[in-house]
Amino acid sequence: MTTGSQGTGSVTAGGAWEAAHRRSLEDPDAFWLEAARSISWIRRPTRALDPAANAAEGAVLPRWFRGATLSTAYNCLDRHVVAGRGDQAAVVHHSAYTGERRTLTYAELLDQSARLAGALRALGVDRGDRVLLYLPMVPEAVVAMLACARIGAVHVVVFGGFAAAELAARVDDAQPVVVVTASCGLEPSRVVEYMPLLEAALARAEHAPAHCVVLQRPQVTADLVPGRDLTWAEVLRPGAAPPAECVEVAATDPLYVLHTSGTTGRPKGVVRDHGGHAVALAWSVRHLFGLEAGDVVLTASDVGWVVGHSYIVYGPLLAGCTTVLYEGKPVGTPDAGELWRAVEEHGVAVLFTAPTAVRAVRARDPELALAEGHDRSSLRALYLAGERLDPDTWAWAGEHLGVPVVDNWWQTETGWPIACSPRGLQELPLKPGSPSVPSPGYDVRVLDAAGREVGPGEEGALCLRLPLPPGTLVGVWGGDDGLRASALAAFPGSYVTGDGGSVDEDGYVRVLGRTDDVVNVAGHRFSAGQLEAAVIGHPDVAECAVVGVADALRGQEPRALVVLTTTATAPPQEVAAQVVQRVRDEVGAVASLRRVDVVAALPKTRSGKVLRRTLREIADGLDPAVPSTIEDRSVLEGLRHLLRR
Ligand code: COA
Ligand code: AMP
Repeated sequence: MTTGSQGTGSVTAGGAWEAAHRRSLEDPDAFWLEAARSISWIRRPTRALDPAANAAEGAVLPRWFRGATLSTAYNCLDRHVVAGRGDQAAVVHHSAYTGERRTLTYAELLDQSARLAGALRALGVDRGDRVLLYLPMVPEAVVAMLACARIGAVHVVVFGGFAAAELAARVDDAQPVVVVTASCGLEPSRVVEYMPLLEAALARAEHAPAHCVVLQRPQVTADLVPGRDLTWAEVLRPGAAPPAECVEVAATDPLYVLHTSGTTGRPKGVVRDHGGHAVALAWSVRHLFGLEAGDVVLTASDVGWVVGHSYIVYGPLLAGCTTVLYEGKPVGTPDAGELWRAVEEHGVAVLFTAPTAVRAVRARDPELALAEGHDRSSLRALYLAGERLDPDTWAWAGEHLGVPVVDNWWQTETGWPIACSPRGLQELPLKPGSPSVPSPGYDVRVLDAAGREVGPGEEGALCLRLPLPPGTLVGVWGGDDGLRASALAAFPGSYVTGDGGSVDEDGYVRVLGRTDDVVNVAGHRFSAGQLEAAVIGHPDVAECAVVGVADALRGQEPRALVVLTTTATAPPQEVAAQVVQRVRDEVGAVASLRRVDVVAALPKTRSGKVLRRTLREIADGLDPAVPSTIEDRSVLEGLRHLLRR
């Protein structure tokens, strides 16, 4: 199948991608040392990868650019101002809710982040301290991230759609000195007040931040706690605190922690370093996304997710691009034409979002009529990631937009695409259902259950041979034992992505979905355990299982099966409704748990493990083999009919 400017065929051999990919694996030190030239260092790296030093330290994952020093903030801002880009727009806030537009030039972003950095320091934040950011899609989120980077503090951004329990878990894990938040976020149906959520989280958390800095937005004025809370306006008042200069940090120091859903109910804090991250992102913006300084990027995600960290904030700014901070939905704010309005208004070259957003636009505007009349000549490509891109959506977008639709596969842990068509290196044909070829630095292998490599087109576990390239996780906040026991445990020498898939004879990757209990809702990642922890907290629920089932819009939606306690008196429908509300209150509405069924029992193995995968496959209309270890087959048979509804 081919559409618009997309085609298929094998042209990987002998091209720029193949050469770069091979070199990156054969001589990673030389490849990444060369890439490191795009970064301004304080102390230049002499080695990119030093296996002996890594082995001596016993690090579970490699440290890149040991011995080198830099400032990520300097690379994102100051050096562009020095080079004459001070008046160029760095961030354009496009609020689809309010109609507001606000531009911060590189010089203004530098000024504001330096002043906030000074203020954070005055509030006691030192190099290495954590600052938790619980913010909506406003430019202040970018200012705050860069302010932390400026003084070597570690930012921990929490997605604004997470409710109290998730926020509390991240507060306790990160132990921030300061929390930076806003009075509210905006959603199509409501204004979300952040302070009550933060107070509820702090009431549950054991750790208490010394201070909270609160951005008062016009829609809501938050109540502040005297002595603890200060407003954004007062801390940034000229003269309030001396602006901070960039602090020199080691390339291996942590820049940020971003929590994601692991295999347990507890969030896993992915740690990203300064040096490897800066090099990898600057490289990827140019070679995978084909962007140059001055280009405009609109990544319709959220700063709370890894896509937002990498391609709303750091990637575009490291490369001297203009980033459009889109506060809104692809549809309904006010209509399915708002993204095209933004493309025209800001001259967007690359639009990046999730497949769900395209499916939502298509459902409302099947002929893309709302794009007519908007000049989209600046648009060079649409990038999609976060979940599987179905061939039908890919073809529709390509036909209607007339630009390449570039699927790219990655995860919070990797920080940048594992596989992507490298448009800045070489125009490779795109294949439907495939995020194209592995990015340089990634040695993708498909392994069977015994750890043997399978042949082209055969399915297995998608794994990455170590070392992972720069910019990927360097560890998990609080310790790497979990990493050792999970992603690095199954196959020695490989990182297990948790995705199943295949690689074809042309080297194109196919990602079929998670092999673990991660539920991917509209490109947002939740673990079954995280959702089950909220469900089981209901006093009438004795046992539960949450599985992600296929959904035409969101890719997957969670579905819960619950067994009630013997003492439960409320009618099952009432408990089900309360469970739905509980998940909204504990995890967040964004988890989109809408379907809860009360059942008599859950199917389990003889060792007591719930057969989630079998449940999911039956709900998706498949006919999986029943595991021989099942304890009581009749329990599963009794659920078949219900699951298919
Ligand atoms: N703060 C508070 N609540 C939030 C939130 C936030 N930042 N983000 C989402 N929510 C809430 C929504 O208000 C909604 O609540 P409701 O059930 O009371 O209506 C719920 O969480 C589900 O959110 P969402 O999935 O955004 O549903 P929607 O109906 O508002 O929009 C889509 C549907 C398809 C437009 C939307 O899911 C979408 O844009 N998806 C693309 C996702 C994306 O860009 N992912 C990026 C990952 S790379
Ligand atoms: P997250 O860490 O939230 O970014 O989620 C990562 C997971 O999303 C991956 O492990 C995949 O399961 C899924 N994912 C991301 N991008 C793609 C893609 N292009 N195709 C298929 N699945 C994807």
